[in-house]
Amino acid sequence: MPIRARALGTMAAALALGALLMAATPPASPRLSQKVFGTLPDGHSAELFTLTNAHGMRVAITNFGGIVQSIQVPDRNGHLADVVLGYDSLAGYLGDTKTYFGALIGRYANRIAFGKFALGGRMYVLAINDGKNSLHGGKQGFNRKLWTARDTSTTTAAALELTYHSRDGEEGYPGNLNVEVVYTLTASDQLRIVYTASTDKPTVLNLTNHSYFNLSGEGSGDILGTELTLAARRYTPINAGLIPTGAVDAVAGTPLDFTTPHHIGDRIGAANQQLQFAGGYDFNYVLDGGGGLALAATAYDPASGRELRVTTTQPGIQLYSGNFLDGTIHGKSGHGYARHAGFCLETQHFPDSPNHRNFPSTELDPGQHFTETTILAFAVR
Ligand code: GLA
Repeated sequence: MPIRARALGTMAAALALGALLMAATPPASPRLSQKVFGTLPDGHSAELFTLTNAHGMRVAITNFGGIVQSIQVPDRNGHLADVVLGYDSLAGYLGDTKTYFGALIGRYANRIAFGKFALGGRMYVLAINDGKNSLHGGKQGFNRKLWTARDTSTTTAAALELTYHSRDGEEGYPGNLNVEVVYTLTASDQLRIVYTASTDKPTVLNLTNHSYFNLSGEGSGDILGTELTLAARRYTPINAGLIPTGAVDAVAGTPLDFTTPHHIGDRIGAANQQLQFAGGYDFNYVLDGGGGLALAATAYDPASGRELRVTTTQPGIQLYSGNFLDGTIHGKSGHGYARHAGFCLETQHFPDSPNHRNFPSTELDPGQHFTETTILAFAVR
């Protein structure tokens, strides 16, 4: 064959191979795509944004409630699964006022006893939505608001900025509050969540994300076989109403101790008053890391090989083992979510802090810049 023809043949083969590779491999650069997720009762439309990285990891987030709707990560054989509980449609999220699947929680994550606190010599009365208490920001918390979304992706990472203005008096909380949450999917399979906020009056603030994980894939059964380690030697005990007593106790010698790895299910049924009050794990752990970003939790699913490492600047983490899920909820693809179908690791300030002077302060004053960071890092082993 003449040299020229041979060269052309090789080029054609190289081009064909290139096309094949392009079709088979995920996009080389980070991407953010957008589609309509659904229409809210007030006529506004909610969007669904999908962040993709070069490994093909995909995170879908809606600006309704800032909800992380799906996280698709590979197992040890490279098979993708969606590792968070939730719904396929906006209607699913609109109809669920109990689980807070994947949502941004504010103004105050977790409970405030009797929905009351004093600040600057005044008593504030909040919306009550959990027995006698206020939970996760009240009746219409940040999880039910439409956030303003902006694509802040760079050449190295896909990113979505969500902003929300919470007006003075909303759900009983003082001060006009501007909140910004940036979700970034990095090239190293980390979902970074950075929260910032400022206020024009003294207020209290506790922000978190309420994702329920099942590292074998949502809808695949319970999470009792997940191996968990928490960087926490202490926790804040609760009373029967799930409100902190104000004590800060050691976990050593109790079934709440995850300072060394344990399956979530190993001791969940132990004869322990705290476990009985909560119907499983539903506790705020006091993180050992003193300020700055520090490792808070490692969850490992031996079945799939997926691992989740949670790093945070926050002082606490709520381990919740999905005790209130009862199978009546049908999530993605109609999957029934039974008790313990997912676990939450809600990085946070301690519950009911405004009523406990010995807990780290959650007060935010005008002129102060609130910022917290949580990183969810996925890997396999
Ligand atoms: C948090 C609380 C739980 C429960 C869930 C939502 O994790 O600690 O008690 O209210 O939210 O169902």
